[in-house]
Amino acid sequence: MRHLLSAGDLSLAEITSILNVAEELHTIQGRAIKKLPTLRGRTVINMFFEDSTRTRTSFEMAGKWMSADTINVTGKGSSTSKGESLRDTMLTLDAMGTDCFVIRHGSSGAVAQAAGWVKAHVINAGDGTHEHPTQALLDAFAMRRHFRKLGESAADSDFEGKTIAIVGDLLHSRVVRSNVLLQRTLGSKVILVAPPTLLPTGVEHWGCEVTDDLDAALEASDAVMMLRVQRERMHGGFFPTAREYTELYGLTPERLARLRPGAAICHPGPMNRGLEISSEAADAANSLILDQVTAGVSVRMSVLYHLLGGSPE
Ligand code: ASP
Ligand code: CP
Repeated sequence: MRHLLSAGDLSLAEITSILNVAEELHTIQGRAIKKLPTLRGRTVINMFFEDSTRTRTSFEMAGKWMSADTINVTGKGSSTSKGESLRDTMLTLDAMGTDCFVIRHGSSGAVAQAAGWVKAHVINAGDGTHEHPTQALLDAFAMRRHFRKLGESAADSDFEGKTIAIVGDLLHSRVVRSNVLLQRTLGSKVILVAPPTLLPTGVEHWGCEVTDDLDAALEASDAVMMLRVQRERMHGGFFPTAREYTELYGLTPERLARLRPGAAICHPGPMNRGLEISSEAADAANSLILDQVTAGVSVRMSVLYHLLGGSPE
């Protein structure tokens, strides 16, 4: 594996290997000293041209816990603010001997383009409305643990026979695209729920059931993934009022009470509490939201390991 640009590039064997290694690395979270020598001498540059709390911090932590040298570059503090192009910025940092770039960029396709310019490995940490593959991997990791804890899945077919509802602002979401691609390979059924105004063009070819009936979808689902209403990407009115959106597409306390027993509640974060998800649902016993965050570090350690390999020792 040279780069991780799209969840659709991963075979079932690669996904399973990333999740299994992440499971082994997950034990480091319980240790007082969280340090492995695995990536000693490797340099990872986190380049975030869009805001992030979870992804940037967990990639930095993942690199540091495996002894890589991690460096953060942001759009604002770099010479891109003086007009330097993305290509020149990438070539400059690549020329310093960087081993891996973790890139988040506001333009769909920019990360794949950057991967074509450099010698280093490239990981897509979210490009525009296109993809966020490590998010889908950490979602799968958290759900797999949940299903295994319930004793509902055999080791090799955790997602066979499972139904996952992905709900909300699908139009602007890179999380949904990566999840649909990953879950297709893993074998689960995905139901997409959104108002017609927030459905991406061509969604009928994604191989998922598409509906605007959240209640029916929840009745059939083993996990529900609520997506943030991405106001920063909305230019125009996609729904009449926030109240109406919550009534039709929010995980309200009433809907929480009607979920299937043991059904997992996921949200990639950041959340709009009270809009797409109620606090009752976000903080419920079967909410995986903080497990997803914890999983983010282990899964990103595993991804770095798969790309960069171990040190000779
Ligand atoms: N944090 C995720 C992303 O960057 C989801 C979101 O922002 O709503 O795609
Ligand atoms: N889920 C996610 O990508 O969060 P951040 O935008 O905070 O990184």
